[in-house]
Amino acid sequence: MRKPVMAGNWKMNKTRDEALQFIYAVSDKLPSNDVLDSIVCAPAIVLRDLVKRQGDSLRIGAQNMHYAASGAYTGEISPNMLVTTGVEYVILGHSERRAYFNETDETVNLKVKAALDNGLKPIVCCGESLEERENGTTHDVLTRQITLALKDISSDGLANVIIAYEPIWAIGTGKVASAEMADEACGFIRSLVKDLYCEKCADEIRILYGGSVSTKSVEELMAQPNIDGGLVGGASLNSDSFIELCNKAI
Ligand code: PGA
Repeated sequence: MRKPVMAGNWKMNKTRDEALQFIYAVSDKLPSNDVLDSIVCAPAIVLRDLVKRQGDSLRIGAQNMHYAASGAYTGEISPNMLVTTGVEYVILGHSERRAYFNETDETVNLKVKAALDNGLKPIVCCGESLEERENGTTHDVLTRQITLALKDISSDGLANVIIAYEPIWAIGTGKVASAEMADEACGFIRSLVKDLYCEKCADEIRILYGGSVSTKSVEELMAQPNIDGGLVGGASLNSDSFIELCNKAI
């Protein structure tokens, strides 16, 4: 049995005051950590504030990091800096970082390795563009992204990885993939993990769907056999909506 996950991705939203309001509003209203991993991935500048107030049921994640331990990388944050804030998770390879900040399959792989080496749990994103979906290359894209992201990662390392399937055309557009389409892609990723590792690894890895998930679509998505949770942008910003998403995910 895979424990479901509900991860909010705040992107570049919320001031410190807004982040604190959110955390006070959700505390005590989320399902127990025994039945759900509820995660908020927030801008780096508020991570420490959120970790201090996360309570028993919530965990905090970052949205990106550099792969180097330290050095002349102005503006970047190292894995160990994240560790010392107390965060447990880090989103890596989000399509917005691939599109706007030069993230490549190779840097995603370096970051996945660095995250695992530092005891962080990466949420590794993959997903095709509309053009790739329409020209029938979705499986090729997912194969490339997942194979390269997990290159040289051991099965012990894999046990701490979460994969998020996020078709780019569904992100922030209100166009959620149909539950069947999302499940097919997550099932394909699971079969890739089986080919790259083993059947048990494929059975155990948690695969999330992301892209316009809302309180209306979450239950149907979660009912699919290959979908273990959501990576949610817009609908995770409001505390009531996040609480509802988490409760509907179990
Ligand atoms: P969305 O974003 O839920 O606003 O579509 C999802 C994501 O980009 O992780």
